[in-house]
Amino acid sequence: MRKTIPVILDGDPGHDDAIAWVFAKADPTLEIRAVISVAGNQTIEKTTINARRIAALLGIDAPVARGASRPLNADPVTAGNWHGESGLDGPALPEPDRPLSELPGVELMAKVLRESRDPVTIIATGPLTNVADLLLSCPELKEKIGQISIMGGGITHGNWKPAAEYNIFEDPEAAWTVFHAGLPLRMCGLDVTEKALIKPSEFPRLLAVGNQVAEIVTGWLEFFYRFPMQLGYSGAPVHDPCAVLALTHPEIFQTRELYVDIELEGEYTRGATVADLMGSTGQAPNVVCGMDIDRDRYVELLVEALKSYDGRCVPVI
Ligand code: BDR
Ligand code: CA
Repeated sequence: MRKTIPVILDGDPGHDDAIAWVFAKADPTLEIRAVISVAGNQTIEKTTINARRIAALLGIDAPVARGASRPLNADPVTAGNWHGESGLDGPALPEPDRPLSELPGVELMAKVLRESRDPVTIIATGPLTNVADLLLSCPELKEKIGQISIMGGGITHGNWKPAAEYNIFEDPEAAWTVFHAGLPLRMCGLDVTEKALIKPSEFPRLLAVGNQVAEIVTGWLEFFYRFPMQLGYSGAPVHDPCAVLALTHPEIFQTRELYVDIELEGEYTRGATVADLMGSTGQAPNVVCGMDIDRDRYVELLVEALKSYDGRCVPVI
């Protein structure tokens, strides 16, 4: 039996953030200590209400706090083309079942770290604004962070700009702070997450699990696939769960240890994750970078995660 890992979920839900949290809550080796929203896919008001609704749906009983409303040093850009007007368009969801934490997101993160006997892992599936803010405002708490597992970046290409992935492009200065923190960092970028496809032919199998969470996750995927379908993807690239599975099921990934830096200046490349594939910088690796995934296992693990919600059903609005 593996030791339980205390985790903070930090994201901008978002369909794939929501599915990442489905995996996280389903895995008995993760103990969710807090959920923090961040502005990204939609405004902070929308990602926060979405986070609270997802917590109510899944039965996450950790506090949920509102995080940063804008990037450290960049203009906010939402991703309604991917996630819709609400940031989580598709099936009806429950109303939040508990009040929002009175603490701002970064303060709740700091409290969780301070009070934890064991190192806490941060699973970051949105722009890295909250994590950077935590590192800058409470540097003494760095030693309480076990590792940071992020969905972000891409070694070979971007998806928001030719060279930049959305989460990093949204707040490059925050990403720079995190990548230079000297903490153990797992990066699942587009190199692996665009291989984490769930294909429409697989949706009926998910629905057939037959519980409420399975029905809603299938509805999320049906919505989330609309935009990538227009772009020619053969399935929905369900990026964010990779940051969870990199911790719970590392065996389904191929990884490389690399030095990765963040481009802050380039006219065409701001927000790019630049990887030293040849070792030419002489810098020691700062990330374990996902390169490939066993997609069949990914789908299997989603089915297993959904089954764990058998018997749970909450009223939706
Ligand atoms: C990332 O951008 C967001 O739209 C998704 O939620 C994911 O975190 C993929 O580039
Ligand atoms: Ca996200």
